[in-house]
Amino acid sequence: LALASIEVPLAPIQVGQAITVKWRGKATFVRHRTKEEIEAAEKVALRDLPDPQPDSARVKKPEWLIVLGVCTHLGCVPLGTKVGEPRGDYGGWFCPCHGSHYDTSGRIRKGPAPANLPVPTYTFLSDSLVKIG
Ligand code: FES
Repeated sequence: LALASIEVPLAPIQVGQAITVKWRGKATFVRHRTKEEIEAAEKVALRDLPDPQPDSARVKKPEWLIVLGVCTHLGCVPLGTKVGEPRGDYGGWFCPCHGSHYDTSGRIRKGPAPANLPVPTYTFLSDSLVKIG
């Protein structure tokens, strides 16, 4: 139960950066989105999404996107969190296993993955601290 929930300090994560934390044995991405990334995520028409979900249903604060780093195809950890990694055609994450592209809301846009990157349960304990789980 010690790892049932974790607290992640947000201050070190610069705008445009993301980090990976381990939560319940799974890679979990915490991404500090830029204004452009937020706008891109918000303006997509739902009919263009294989797994339609508005960005507003996937974030509590637009600048912070928190998703499990588990591709919904076969469970690989998608690339795009570390600096210099490919982020795919939609600026989010790219899973090289069979080429799944996720957008800046972690939604599947292209490739074999059937569903969006899952959003875990989380709570903002303050402006600079989030509890996942
Ligand atoms: Fe991601 Fe196959 S596990 S594309």
